[in-house]
Amino acid sequence: MPETSAARPRPDTVQRYGRAARWLHVWVYLTVLTLLATGWWFVLYGYHRPTLAARLLGQPDMTIHQVAGYLLTAVLLGWAVFGPRGIAAFVRHTLRYRRGDGRWLADWPKAAVTGRFGGHDGHFDPGQRLANIVMVVALLVLVLTGLGLTLLPSDALSGSMLLIHEWSTFALTPVIVGHIIVAAGVLPGYRGVWRSMHLGGRLRTDVAQRLWPGWLREQQDSDEPRR
Ligand code: HEM
Ligand code: HEM
Repeated sequence: MPETSAARPRPDTVQRYGRAARWLHVWVYLTVLTLLATGWWFVLYGYHRPTLAARLLGQPDMTIHQVAGYLLTAVLLGWAVFGPRGIAAFVRHTLRYRRGDGRWLADWPKAAVTGRFGGHDGHFDPGQRLANIVMVVALLVLVLTGLGLTLLPSDALSGSMLLIHEWSTFALTPVIVGHIIVAAGVLPGYRGVWRSMHLGGRLRTDVAQRLWPGWLREQQDSDEPRR
């Protein structure tokens, strides 16, 4: 979707994400970071020691956790209702496999430092595709078990639901930490990537060429900004 900004896009940049996708991402990360922070607090310090945020807001951490949980649920439902085509595209781009993806992954640790990534023709690189699968599955399980723990009468099931809730957090956390390190451009190979989701969603063409060469070619061929 073209940006409606009055400023004309610079020719050495390319639009990667439109406004709707960027707002969706902001809401997901604000709620997920709140849930991770309060969830880890419960694991490490239990439910009776308030965080600084709980003291400042005058609300128990569990209320903060549950409100963030309802917000995340609402955001995901909103996406399902208003963005089914976006979801279909996300799933299609994530669940693709090409010969050469294994090679790309094997070369990744070096490339993350040197910036010399292997070629691929996807919207997401093979590493992003794996991360997307873990993030989506873990988040869906967390939302379902979290709602179950909140809304269902406590019974024999709640013990196993809590265990699944906790272990999904353990699976999700390293992937989110990795995603933030990569997407914030801490590793030299990923410098400049953060712009694709922030401040207009345009990134420099040389950065796009380094990370998503096939996608960039498609953009240039169609000359159409996307999503
Ligand atoms: C990113 C998503 C989420 C993460 C990372 C997360 C993480 C956690 C963690 C680590 C705990 C502590 C588990 C323990 O004490 O062993 C917890 C407890 C809890 N969470 Fe979540 N959570 C998420 C989403 C949700 C949602 C969507 C809800 C519901 C609206 C929810 C409701 C609860 C409840 C009710 C508990 C307390 C369960 C009990 O002790 O009976 N969580 N969460
Ligand atoms: C904490 C919860 C977060 C979740 C669940 C999340 C999830 C996602 C997902 C599923 C994508 C799609 C493609 C991909 O895997 O790269 C994405 C893209 C992106 N995220 Fe996040 N994200 C989170 C936090 C952040 C934060 C804090 C940043 C800040 C640097 C960030 C920056 C980005 C960027 C720049 C992209 C675009 C990558 C591309 O152009 O393909 N994310 N995020």
